[in-house]
Amino acid sequence: MTLLDGKVTSQTIKDNIAGELQKYLSEGRRKPHLVAILVGNDGASQTYVASKQKNSQAIGFDSTVYNYDETITEEFLLDKINQINNDEAIDGLIVQLPLPKHISESKVTQAIKPEKDVDGFHDVNMGKLAKGDEDGFIPATPYGIVKILEAYDIQTSGKHCVVVGRSNIVGRPMSILMSANSKYGNCTVTLCHSRTANIEDFTKKADILIVALGKPEFITGDMIKPGAVVIDVGISRVEDPSKKSGFALKGDVHFESASEVSSAITPVPGGVGLMTIAGLLLNTFKSYKQYYLKQN
Ligand code: GUN
Repeated sequence: MTLLDGKVTSQTIKDNIAGELQKYLSEGRRKPHLVAILVGNDGASQTYVASKQKNSQAIGFDSTVYNYDETITEEFLLDKINQINNDEAIDGLIVQLPLPKHISESKVTQAIKPEKDVDGFHDVNMGKLAKGDEDGFIPATPYGIVKILEAYDIQTSGKHCVVVGRSNIVGRPMSILMSANSKYGNCTVTLCHSRTANIEDFTKKADILIVALGKPEFITGDMIKPGAVVIDVGISRVEDPSKKSGFALKGDVHFESASEVSSAITPVPGGVGLMTIAGLLLNTFKSYKQYYLKQN
């Protein structure tokens, strides 16, 4: 069984970006700049945004985080997005989800200029992804997953990939990427979700199983085909009094039983979460090169 190590793989990606960036900085170019907006004080979201900032800065990017109170209005947030859209010294903008209920996530994601939408949630980028237009941005988690498949040279062509979960952030775009005509795509894809009947009938047929459901340890070893490659996107906080934080992080896959049958598997933590950050940094660097370097 191969452990698909997100720590090592994401570090290699970050080192490569940092190395290439040095060249541009030595030519007198400015640094890439990623802005994140966080609304409210959800613990998990704060952790994710802090990690995005820390990793951005570690590879030489500028990173700004705006943390607003959960009572801000939608209009205020849309105004802020508009300002950032018009700031030529900013390459990427993400608004951490979920947002408070009185703010429309759809309006917010569609307000971000597609050229700075490094989360790839705007309809323009989703449309480009669906059509295989490489100009756009791929959502960070699916992008990170393709990068880890690539790093371990997992053969995907002609294989049956089962994606569990149909969210706009992971499952849906993942299903599109795995069926795309590309080196680490070319799969026959089945997309399962909360209304799928007898889900194990499908998961057991997967050569590549990608689980993004948000239900801790939902997939157990008996639901996996021997030799399958398993990608676990879940990262839930489960109460654990033995931990200092009071919680443990659990994936959507029961690691112990799954690792006995699979040929390769991502751990939680240390798997897809770190690759998501790598995907975001790659997108920000792409924006910097595509829109700043080329035009200045
Ligand atoms: N919430 C959960 N995942 C993500 C992500 O990749 N980007 C943003 N902006 N919010 C999220």
